[in-house]
Amino acid sequence: MAEKSRVLVIGGTGSIGKFIVEASAKSGRPTFALVRESTLSDPAKADIVEGFKSLGVNLVRGDIYDQESLLNAIKQVDVVISAVGQAQTEDQDRIVAAIKAAGNIKRFLPSEFGNDVDRVHAVEPVKTGFALKAKIRRLVEAEGIPYTYVSSNSFAGYYLQTLSQPGATAPPRDNVVILGDGNAKVVFNKEDDIGTYTIKAVDDPRTLNKILYIRPPANTYSMNELVSLWERKIGKALERVYVPEEQILKNIQEAVFPLNVILAICHSNFVKGDQTNFRIEPSFGVEASELYPDVNYTTVDQYLDKIV
Ligand SMILES: NC(=O)c1ccc[n+]([C@@H]2O[C@H](COP(=O)([O-])OP(=O)(O)OC[C@H]3O[C@@H](n4cnc5c(N)ncnc54)[C@H](OP(=O)(O)O)[C@@H]3O)[C@@H](O)[C@H]2O)c1
Repeated sequence: MAEKSRVLVIGGTGSIGKFIVEASAKSGRPTFALVRESTLSDPAKADIVEGFKSLGVNLVRGDIYDQESLLNAIKQVDVVISAVGQAQTEDQDRIVAAIKAAGNIKRFLPSEFGNDVDRVHAVEPVKTGFALKAKIRRLVEAEGIPYTYVSSNSFAGYYLQTLSQPGATAPPRDNVVILGDGNAKVVFNKEDDIGTYTIKAVDDPRTLNKILYIRPPANTYSMNELVSLWERKIGKALERVYVPEEQILKNIQEAVFPLNVILAICHSNFVKGDQTNFRIEPSFGVEASELYPDVNYTTVDQYLDKIV
């Protein structure tokens, strides 16, 4: 294993970025976070920023739309991780250009942290969002930048917390909506584990120019299996309401943002089975829990115990 790199996270104050910054700093890597001036004065982000300071994270002022600030930040590190949001996906070409100009980066991890965008069967509006991530992949490869794409599958906080019931704020206690036949396997990972696996990968030669799939067997469930597990925990059978694919597609078309996006992601995950309907071949990917068996990740079973 190579020496520990200096890591820059762009988008480090975001919903997944903060876990990556924390994992990097806790791993003992010199850690830098590119933060916009407006974020530093945003009271809603104060706790995150203070948390970074207490971990010894170097806050570098900058913006992906300010090339000079990007270059300045990139020149101080060996690894760049982008965790910018969906709205900035396409504009990561600016990060790619700065990495190319700086010439010192050993690994770039673009903002992915979801399904493998080269192996999805999504419908609009998500189809275009996935295609934009794939476009950044092609750019990174064309520029010859060493990369790792992290396919982390579903964030537990988004999809397990409510058993993937759009609009709900708590897990179901009476009835549960199941998309399709409920047999497609979906993967749920806790955000801090995603941060841990991501940081382990940055200096690992086995993840160089590969997709790192976070697909631990104990976190891979069909919706039917997940509901059964939940029913055992709450000691009660739920009424299962199955929605056929045709109806889901109609619902997506009729819904407005952001519900249409959420429904289309759920369609890709729970109906098409896009997180698990292919084998991870050594030619393109590696699986995180196999590579790093030392990581004591939170299982779906343990997660549900916490919210029961
Ligand atoms: N698998 C899943 O379940 C799942 C769920 C959600 C997201 N994701 C994926 O995870 C990735 C990150 O999404 P997210 O939801 O964590 O994003 P997010 O919460 O919206 O955070 C975006 C980050 O980018 C920063 N940012 C925005 N504009 C910037 C700019 N011009 N210059 C520099 N930084 C800028 C934001 O700063 P501020 O803090 O100042 O806003 C924030 O730190 C995306 O690829 C998304 O598709 C996956």
